[in-house]
Amino acid sequence: MNHHFHGKKVNYTYAEINLRTLKKNLEAVREEAGKAGAAGGVKVCSVIKSNAYGHGMNETAKALTEFGSEYLGTADYRESLILSDYLKRRTKKKAKILCLGILTEEKKFFDEVVTRDIEASLAEVDIAQKLNDYARSVNKKATVQIQVDTGMNRIGFSMNEAYSAIEAISRMKNLKVKGIYSHFATSEIAGNAFAGKQLKQFKDLVRCLESSVMKFELRHISNTGGILNFKDPYFNMVRPGISLYGYYPDRKKVVRDIGIKPVMTLRSRVNFLKSVPKRESISYGRLHFTDKLTKIASIPVGYGDGYSRLLTNKSKVLINGKPYDTVGAVCMDWVMADTGSSSEVNVNDEVILFGEDYPAYKLSEITGTIVYEIICSVSSRVQRVYTY
Ligand SMILES: Cc1ncc(COP(=O)(O)O)c(C=O)c1O
Repeated sequence: MNHHFHGKKVNYTYAEINLRTLKKNLEAVREEAGKAGAAGGVKVCSVIKSNAYGHGMNETAKALTEFGSEYLGTADYRESLILSDYLKRRTKKKAKILCLGILTEEKKFFDEVVTRDIEASLAEVDIAQKLNDYARSVNKKATVQIQVDTGMNRIGFSMNEAYSAIEAISRMKNLKVKGIYSHFATSEIAGNAFAGKQLKQFKDLVRCLESSVMKFELRHISNTGGILNFKDPYFNMVRPGISLYGYYPDRKKVVRDIGIKPVMTLRSRVNFLKSVPKRESISYGRLHFTDKLTKIASIPVGYGDGYSRLLTNKSKVLINGKPYDTVGAVCMDWVMADTGSSSEVNVNDEVILFGEDYPAYKLSEITGTIVYEIICSVSSRVQRVYTY
């Protein structure tokens, strides 16, 4: 089931990850974030959680580090450790890892936080105290950032406890508090009042803390939506995720274009082609019937690869650059496309499931989800092939 691509042996179905596009997207995002005008410039924490939104965490994070990303944002400590091991071996450039997940009571990962280049997010005084005690016991300092919940109601210090909690943390001698951050719930909507309120509340809190409790080297709140819609020079780091991979949080709500392009192209080949008479059914459950004698192309990609079954009878694929309707239920390993009665398609022809010419957000509109889920869902059996 192999063929060659850029001199590499690859499976018929694979995800091409274009690192040159990734670099350009990082540059575009950095430029956009820079327009806020923060004194001393803006640092970028590239969010590479969930396997870098499906693009392959290690390779993507290494590339982003080499392209100058100052921080890498992970979801949890498992990801952080894998990444820290990989980067240590594979790149000389340094990026800090900010774990956006939380530490828990069991003291799991305390040692890693104290001994590695991983910065922990703190959302509880109790845990902060335990981490501080652990760091003191091994005669080290743990570098941390404080996470404040201004409206997500997910994780982070709530607004009413934040001031006193951070005051308490500021007295813990074995914690080095490097930054403070919050997260928007609705920043993809330009001018959104709730996001505006989050921004104001967070800024008021941090200003107040900075004038009476402690200074923060890093202050940040913006994900992609915030970078586009809620610029503020008070904040000196941003945490883009989806825009690095070439998509906007919500195509319908973001009207401005900053020139980013999809990094991933999900590719395959026509593996099998057959003539099917009129009124024959295609695939499981007989959800499609041919309306004429036609040629059906079978493509070796299915929901086992992350190509959702909800796309059944609704998506298109590009074969040799031309769009064709998929027909019949998406199977675990296959999807079929109707290439017409006078088909020009041949076995082994190139198929694109999504990419620059048929962006993944189109699939998200069909299945009623967000583009994040489409790219994150590309499964582990899909080989990632990195090009530049
Ligand atoms: C805390 C945090 N910051 C930043 C991001 C990046 O968001 P986006 O992909 O919308 O840019 C995420 C992703 O969900 C997140 O959880």
